[in-house]
Parts: sequence; C-alpha cells; structure tokens
Amino acid sequence: MEGDTITDLCTPALVVDVDIVKRNAQRMTERFLKMGVQLRPHMKTHKTLECADIMTGGSRRCIVVSTLAEASFYADHGFDDILYAYSVPFDKVERSAALSERLTLFQVLLDHPDALEQLRKRPLRDRRPWHVWLKLDCGNGRAGILHSEPEAMQLAQAISETEGVELTGVYAHCGNTYNCRGIEEIQAVAQETTTFVLQFMDKLKAVGISCKSSIGSTPSCSHPVKDMACLSEVHPGNYVFYDVQQSVIGSCSLEDVAVRVLTRVIGHCPHRNQLLIDCGWTGISLDGAGKLPTGYAMIEGQPNLKLVSMTQEHGRVEPISDMLDHSKYPLGSLLTLIPYHSCATASMHPVYHIHSGGRLVGKWLPARGW
Ligand SMILES: Cc1ncc(COP(=O)(O)O)c(C=O)c1O
Repeated sequence: MEGDTITDLCTPALVVDVDIVKRNAQRMTERFLKMGVQLRPHMKTHKTLECADIMTGGSRRCIVVSTLAEASFYADHGFDDILYAYSVPFDKVERSAALSERLTLFQVLLDHPDALEQLRKRPLRDRRPWHVWLKLDCGNGRAGILHSEPEAMQLAQAISETEGVELTGVYAHCGNTYNCRGIEEIQAVAQETTTFVLQFMDKLKAVGISCKSSIGSTPSCSHPVKDMACLSEVHPGNYVFYDVQQSVIGSCSLEDVAVRVLTRVIGHCPHRNQLLIDCGWTGISLDGAGKLPTGYAMIEGQPNLKLVSMTQEHGRVEPISDMLDHSKYPLGSLLTLIPYHSCATASMHPVYHIHSGGRLVGKWLPARGW
C-alpha cells in the first residue's frame, strides 16, 4: 500500500527508487541536449508507461522498442514516433503494417534484402511509406549487415529505391561496449562505431542518399565521444535503471542503480555454512552467472555474502570467507539484492514497487510478451 515502507512488502519484490530513475533520465537527456543529438530512449529495460513518461519528459514521442508487444502497448497509450529496432520478423509484417497505418510514425528495421521484399509485397494504405532503418553491424557481432561489405550499401540503395519504402536511417547498436572495462575502453568502442557509421553516411551522401544515423548503448551514451555529436540520434535504454554490470563496465557508480530485489531469509543450513532465501531465478534471473565474486547479485551492505546458486524459488547464500553467524540473519529477516542485469531481473517481475526514500509511492505494470 502507498505510504508503507518497502520492508512491508511480500518478497521477492522488485523495488524501484523513483528519485534515482528521474536523476538518471535527466542526466542522459541533458547530456544529449547539450550535444545537439536527439535522444530516442529504448524501453526494453522497464517496458512501463510511467518510466517511458519520465524518459521522454512526458512527450510520449521518440522511443525505441524491442518487441511488437511493447510497440502496441505504447501505441495504445498515445505514444507515437516508435522505432521497432529488431530485424523485421516475417511473421510480424502484418502487425507492423497495422501499426504503420495507425500511427503518425512507426518505424521498422531490417538487415536483409528478403525483409525488404516482404515490405514491398505489403504496401501500406493511402500510399504511406514504410519507414525503414538499415541495421549495420559495426563490430557488435549480433544482428545487422556488416558495415564494410558492399552488400550494405547495395541494401541501403535498394531500400531508398523501392516503391512504398523510405530509408529513414542507419542504426548500429554498440553492444560490444559490454566487453569494456573503464571509460577509455568504452570510448574506444563508441568512437569506432561512430566512425564506421559516419563513413557509411558519407558513402550514402556520395550517391545522393541522405537519412538519419543512430548508435548507442548505455555504456557509450554514459560516456559519449565528441564525434557522436555528428549523429542524428542515440538510443540507450538500460541507463534509467543501471545495474551492477554497468558499474563493473564503468558506465555508472553503484549509487546510480535504481533497482533492488528484496528477499527474506527462509532457512538456516549450518551443515553447509549457508542460508536459504526466497529469491530463486524467477526473482532475479540467472544472468551474470560466474561474473561477480558475490555470485548472481550483490547483497547490499553484506560484502562477505555470496548468492552462490538458485533453483526456481530458492537461493543459496554463503559467506565468501569464514563461517556464517546464522544469528545475524534470523528467519524472516530481509536481504537486499542489487541485480547484475536489471533488464533480465525486471523481466521476471509482473509488478514493480516504486518508492521514494523507502516509502512506497505506487506500482508500475510492464508490458509482457512479443
Ligand atoms: C537494438 C538495441 N538498441 C538499443 C539497445 C539499448 O542499449 P542498452 O541496453 O545498452 O541501453 C539495445 C539493448 O540491448 C538493443 O538491443
């Protein structure tokens, strides 16, 4: 209930500090306002209306989504100028067409001529164009056509020449910043991705094509390089929550992490030198396995505790060194987990409990599905 403290919640519970969320959003907005680059925040981390309002300053315009379920959810609530930044899945062309015909600006992304052919075969009503971003791989090694291959330019030209389709922009996601440690490494990847994209834009210009450009990830947008000012847009998302992973990379400090999972001690196992908690992988996810000395998360204020393993609804906690003093952790007592990866952790929860200074101020309900 509103006004109660977060310690009254049934656990496991995802709690979000709304003051930190607002601070993170404001910093990112101001950073790119100063650089003269449009911030198009990604919704994938939280998938809620309330957080989207914070990230867009209430405009409900200019967002990125990772699923059509998110796109429809936001469209149903008055959002527009939505970019579905996922190589267009052929089974979802019809739903994408419906959104393109309904919204002022719904944009899709592709990286293969066959996807372009799917769009060509499904013209939009009233001679509306499909707004298409070309996805480039600039070293991330996931989706996208390799920026250096002649096929990338050929596909860009084909998009701009296809009837009923418009080349809106070039999109590169520098997810390879997640392998970095420290600002210098982050900025080297940010620079490389920016340079590749800007070189590609020059090549497009040389053949008479002009369109937007966008790169981004939370690490690169937390520490942008100067040349990013030459881009039209950036598209980070995780920054609004941040997490332990981002603090390890060097994107933020632990004070910037807005989310926690509250859990309670539900068992003492002195024969194994362990505690049991009521947070299994359904409460925090298995993301981060083997990455932290403290296990799957950090346990706030308990640097000697490690979340060593989980089953669906149970977690095993043991000391990093020495014997556990079980009397310090009575059954029913609370522990606070700082997630390794907030996108993964948030996706496990149907409700986020929002607080300010530990007092509950509301609930956010995320969109789910694909
Ligand atoms: C295609 C795409 N764009 C943007 C983002 C946002 O990046 P980040 O989560 O680092 O903020 C992601 C994240 O996975 C992504 O996959």
